[in-house]
Amino acid sequence: MTAAASPVNLAGQFSSAFGREPDGIWQAPGRVNLIGEHTDYNEGFVLPFAIDRTARVAVGVRSDGKVRLLSTYGDQGLTTADTAHLEQHSAKGWTKYPLGVMWSLQQRGIDVPGLDLLLDSDVPLGAGLSSSHAIECAVISALNDITGAGLSPEDMVLATQRAENDFVGAPTGIMDQSASLRGAAGHAVFLDCRDQAVRLVPFAAEEAGLAMLVIDTKVSHSHADGGYASRREACELGAEVLGVKALRDVALEDLDEASGLLDDVTFRRVRHVVTENDRVLQTVELLDNQGPSSIGALLDASHVSMRDDFEISCPELDLAVGTARANGAIGARMTGGGFGGAAIALTPVAEEQRVRAAVLQAFAQAGYTAPDLFTVTPSAGAMRVA
Ligand code: GLA
Repeated sequence: MTAAASPVNLAGQFSSAFGREPDGIWQAPGRVNLIGEHTDYNEGFVLPFAIDRTARVAVGVRSDGKVRLLSTYGDQGLTTADTAHLEQHSAKGWTKYPLGVMWSLQQRGIDVPGLDLLLDSDVPLGAGLSSSHAIECAVISALNDITGAGLSPEDMVLATQRAENDFVGAPTGIMDQSASLRGAAGHAVFLDCRDQAVRLVPFAAEEAGLAMLVIDTKVSHSHADGGYASRREACELGAEVLGVKALRDVALEDLDEASGLLDDVTFRRVRHVVTENDRVLQTVELLDNQGPSSIGALLDASHVSMRDDFEISCPELDLAVGTARANGAIGARMTGGGFGGAAIALTPVAEEQRVRAAVLQAFAQAGYTAPDLFTVTPSAGAMRVA
């Protein structure tokens, strides 16, 4: 995996690998979710932003329907496939993502050509920053241009979601793709997951003297494992028992009554989603009116809700969040699907070194693998770069 500061010469590497020039290079970012976790598949609200780390794909069209996939990292050599037989079960490692997107476009009746594709990415893998969606969004942007399919961002979001759900096998929502495809520098993406309406909300943390610190715990997770799916099932059960289309339709005031209708675990899952939706709306209002320094308490409350009600945190994430808060961060929470991955800590620039040192020390003392710490800034969404 290449460092953010020194991107590889992708066109040059493509030419060496495939003996021809690429037709173009497309990139798409990973994301950090500021707030609104496990609300997307409940038709609720989310507030992620695209980060300054991207997956890039150099792509050359082939006329014979063959697919050749290569990446600049990992030890997986050249993978070959054929557009006539895109098989869910035989796709390995990262190649699931481009092949899944090609398959998903075919399901929409789009004639997908054969391709040579070289991937490079500096979105950390498995850190909960949507490295897989970054790949999918770079690939779908490329294919949308190459095929002239004319898909809207909303269509591309749904097509990549289908790739994730039905090809990769992860029952995830639409947040990550929306951030990657629709993000903008200096802004968070306020997304209503019921109708995909987006409003870009200014989130200029740096101007407020704040850094958004990411703490990658290195605890690996997969949304194709059971934890994510079981949370989703609990939400669906809750909605069914409460007689609503989705938990988006449950208001804070309904929670008292809901507690009498649901078993304890389902009630706590529901309470997380309902209160988290409300926290997203409050965060947007605060960002609009008071700026990033005002949202710390909401980030903290979101973490507590995920830890205690939704039960998707882990000791490493709790330690990262608690240590960051005790050493100067104004708010911190785990970000992404949970069960590992990364935490975010909104930290005054003047306190950043103290937070970093304290987190590293706390992890060492606990005997945990050393985390990776780095800052991210809200950045542009997917685009063609060459
Ligand atoms: C993962 C999924 C998203 C969303 C989050 C939790 O990132 O891909 O769709 O559900 O988890 O908020």
